[in-house]
Amino acid sequence: MAGEPGLAELGAQAAARRTTYGQDALIVCDRLVRIYTADGIEVQALQGLDLLVDDGELTAIVGASGSGKSTLVNILAGLDKPTAGSARVAGCDLAALGDRQRLAYRRSTVGFIWQETSRNLLPYLTARQNVMMPMLLARRGRRDRRRSAAELLDALSVGHCADRKPGEMSGGEQQRAAIATALANRPRLLLADEPTGELDSATAADVFGALQAANAELGVTVLLVTHDPGVSGQVRRVISIRDGRTSTETLRHDAADEHGNVAQHAVEYAVLDRAGRLQLPRELTEPLGMRGRVRLEAEPDHIGVWPDGPAGDGAASDGDGGQLA
Ligand SMILES: Nc1ncnc2c1ncn2[C@@H]1O[C@H](COP(=O)(O)OP(=O)(O)OP(=O)(O)O)[C@@H](O)[C@H]1O
Ligand SMILES: [Mg+2]
Repeated sequence: MAGEPGLAELGAQAAARRTTYGQDALIVCDRLVRIYTADGIEVQALQGLDLLVDDGELTAIVGASGSGKSTLVNILAGLDKPTAGSARVAGCDLAALGDRQRLAYRRSTVGFIWQETSRNLLPYLTARQNVMMPMLLARRGRRDRRRSAAELLDALSVGHCADRKPGEMSGGEQQRAAIATALANRPRLLLADEPTGELDSATAADVFGALQAANAELGVTVLLVTHDPGVSGQVRRVISIRDGRTSTETLRHDAADEHGNVAQHAVEYAVLDRAGRLQLPRELTEPLGMRGRVRLEAEPDHIGVWPDGPAGDGAASDGDGGQLA
């Protein structure tokens, strides 16, 4: 048919996509590796993690304790460097930044919110002074600083706390003032590592609402780590990390039923990495006795995965959590 791309053209398009991996994305992690060495023992916190996040997205990262979530966020925040692979945010190659560029990156391109409320704000400064501090470091004029700080505190519904020090504010108010401070220099990316971890569920919902508002109204891309199902259940894209790699993604979208009632619909996807690796969830592989070696069968519209021989038989070696390489 006229206009249909031929095989050669499809191949060329696929090749072009490969060479421009993540070209338009705000966050591009390409086979990111972080190995910590403590007391002579190596811990592979990130084991070749691939991740693309577009400008303007609000994404949640979930995963078991120790799976590498904070390690990833610390690298994206410019607080830590990868051992291998690359991480790029808004065109900055985070492994290659010099000290001065790293400082500028942390001051202007990203904002960061810690779980511990007390870590986000300077205790001897008021909320207004906290928000103005990063602006001062970016050498912005006093009038601009005062006006912007007032606007940000109002936007995050903590205008009434402008003249209070953190000790005179509730946990939720402190986190909202912390978001205002992180947004002070209008960063492209806001990172939050369990920002609601210390809060009760009502306050957590409030703080999450503030992050949603920052994303929707100020257009900042938000990446947050959370253990809170009440939070991740409301995020359109939830990325799950397992053993230092992205393993599954849940995407939510609105779907109308036959009566026109709109409800949220969630679909879980496995992530196929750039090397063609796929992590099969243990819940699926274990009942079928899939270990070590599986058989693949190409079907016209899907790929079948079969255990190698009768259940439990034929395992060439111990698998590593359902990983297909
Ligand atoms: N500074 C460090 N030195 C040595 N090992 C570390 C260091 N930081 C983290 N690790 C190890 O790296 C792995 C990943 O840690 P990370 O803090 O990224 O996990 P996490 O997913 O954030 O967990 P949690 O949900 O408990 O916060 C863990 O095994 C951890 O023990
Ligand atoms: Mg963590």
